[in-house]
Amino acid sequence: MAEASAQPVAVVTGASSGIGREIAVALAAKGYHVVLAARREDKLSQTADLCRREHARHFAGREDAASVIAHPADVSVREQVEDLVDSTVRRLGRLDVMVNNAGSGLFGRVHELDESAVRRLFDVNFYGALYGCQAAARAMIPRRSGHIFNVSSVIGRRGTPFHGAYCATKFALCGLTDSLRVEMMPYRIRVTSVLPTLTDTEFFAHSAGRRRPLSEFQKRYGMMSARVVARRIAAAAGRDVPELVFSAGGKLLVVLAVLWPGLVDRMMKLYHDDLARKL
Ligand SMILES: NC(=O)c1ccc[n+]([C@@H]2O[C@H](COP(=O)([O-])OP(=O)(O)OC[C@H]3O[C@@H](n4cnc5c(N)ncnc54)[C@H](OP(=O)(O)O)[C@@H]3O)[C@@H](O)[C@H]2O)c1
Repeated sequence: MAEASAQPVAVVTGASSGIGREIAVALAAKGYHVVLAARREDKLSQTADLCRREHARHFAGREDAASVIAHPADVSVREQVEDLVDSTVRRLGRLDVMVNNAGSGLFGRVHELDESAVRRLFDVNFYGALYGCQAAARAMIPRRSGHIFNVSSVIGRRGTPFHGAYCATKFALCGLTDSLRVEMMPYRIRVTSVLPTLTDTEFFAHSAGRRRPLSEFQKRYGMMSARVVARRIAAAAGRDVPELVFSAGGKLLVVLAVLWPGLVDRMMKLYHDDLARKL
């Protein structure tokens, strides 16, 4: 194993686009070594170039002062996630931040969903993150330090129509993350659930199922920028932040879902009817 580097080390899954790419860039801007994982190698190397540019800025022109490693991997395959983490620790000597961000969507009414598509979604959104948590925890426990971020969604706290399967994967991930956070306290390892609201990325183009139209509500309130989400995550690294919720609307949804579920149902019905008209 390499001697532990002076600079902190982060692994980001789903780093080939969207939120994951921006998280990698934001961590590189803070001087982290970054290890980038996803399936599309060409997109990963674009992210790697962006990270090197941030290193050059951070280290005053010495862009090689920290490493940027593109590590192609499919997170739904346990061995590939274990290799991602193990090879990071072998090469850089430590793991400080693990961001389990890779994920995908599936649009469709619950009673029409194809079971195999739902299972594939769980393989990526839930099991991919579980493998990442387990491998990261094994690497971090001996050092009694580290931070695991699991990118769920605000609709991993309240289900929405047409996204039942996706919500189920993200609810499962939130539950896992809450359990892990407390289990990791004795080892001083921090664990954060990240709950973005609608964010402007390739997510909708990549999602499976029928093409998802935007609702009038979504058009009116717009989408968050992936950079904003990423910067909040980078700023939270190394701090005790159990959950990151990004917008006032997102926070309200989480609170109302617990206190007043019937009211949220009525709001969701408006969203449902609006989308149903467009299908
Ligand atoms: N956009 C939103 O509105 C929104 C809202 C809430 C939460 N989220 C969550 O944010 C996370 C990032 O999504 P995004 O919006 O940035 O969408 P995105 O641009 O489509 O990014 C998804 C990333 O996940 C990777 N990925 C998908 N399947 C993978 C697999 N089997 N193995 C490895 N990597 C895989 C993709 O890379 P490859 O295709 O190259 O493998 C890509 O880098 C997801 O977990 C998503 O559920 C998004």
